[in-house]
Amino acid sequence: MTTVIRTTALNKIYEGSLRSQDVHALKDLNLEIREGEIFGYLGPNGSGKTTTIKMLLGLLFPTSGKIEILGSEAIESAKIKRNIGYLPEGAYYPDFLRGEEILSYYGRLYGLRGAELNKRVDETLELVGMQHARKRFLRGYSKGMRQRIGLAQALISDPKILILDEPTTGLDPIARKDIRDLLVELRKRGITLLISSHELLEVELISDRVAILFEGVMQTLGTMDELLTQRELSMTVEHMTDEIAASLEEKGIVVEDRTGIRALLRLPQKLSTYDAIELCQARKLNLLSISPRRETLEELFVRIVGSASESREVAQ
Ligand SMILES: Nc1ncnc2c1ncn2[C@@H]1O[C@H](COP(=O)(O)OP(=O)(O)OP(=O)(O)O)[C@@H](O)[C@H]1O
Ligand SMILES: [Mg+2]
Repeated sequence: MTTVIRTTALNKIYEGSLRSQDVHALKDLNLEIREGEIFGYLGPNGSGKTTTIKMLLGLLFPTSGKIEILGSEAIESAKIKRNIGYLPEGAYYPDFLRGEEILSYYGRLYGLRGAELNKRVDETLELVGMQHARKRFLRGYSKGMRQRIGLAQALISDPKILILDEPTTGLDPIARKDIRDLLVELRKRGITLLISSHELLEVELISDRVAILFEGVMQTLGTMDELLTQRELSMTVEHMTDEIAASLEEKGIVVEDRTGIRALLRLPQKLSTYDAIELCQARKLNLLSISPRRETLEELFVRIVGSASESREVAQ
């Protein structure tokens, strides 16, 4: 599997006017982003996400460590720059321009001209579903439309890597879903996506791998399957009686909710699906549904960040 972004022992210290005011924003970060994946880069406010992104883009210099992008260490080179699209956090574009004007402006910054520029503007507008509004002024755009133009802007140079800092913040659920679908479509086209976000449900839905950062230190990294622990089974049954409920509770099964003869049960982790079916058969319970419950990304985030901040408090 090709690695498109690699950082090795990357550090960033923002120097204050006094040594004691220095902020060690990123500590020995080792990160590998693979070709064609959606990578969710997570962490609470101030954990170092934007700092990392700015260093990847060559907008900030690392204090120490190494960054390789597409096999090259020279981030300043035009070839590398053209291959990374970037949508900044809270991107702002001038209101008095039309959608298509923004895109040609950015296209020209990449050296595109004439027919090639027009073609690229067309293609990106098409990709983000904004052809219909290309001639309208940005001041008349909704937040979702602005974000699409932002994405088109990031795609104008036909990059291999797309870095998005909080791409769905402030969008309504429909606009969010649209942007999410679009990101998945971009992955299908072979673009690697690095997404920093606080929208954990969305990240969970689309990311191949995630990393969680806390106070500049990487806490965990992996696929959802690797990171989210399997929780207990839950099942819905019919023909529940007080007597049966009591016998189930003896086996460590929790009767979570009971309305009439129907009940929702939570099974301890040691019981398998097969055990659950047997339990129902033995008690003449009618089994309506059975499903495993996995930890959510939000639960993982709270768990990881919670224990990192606890161990920091102990150390202090
Ligand atoms: N220009 C700067 N000068 C000094 N300190 C900075 C500067 N930029 C960021 N920091 C500090 O570096 C740390 C990491 O900030 P960063 O913006 O990278 O976090 P973030 O994870 O992107 O947070 P958020 O989720 O709020 O966007 C914070 O403590 C922040 O205060
Ligand atoms: Mg940030």
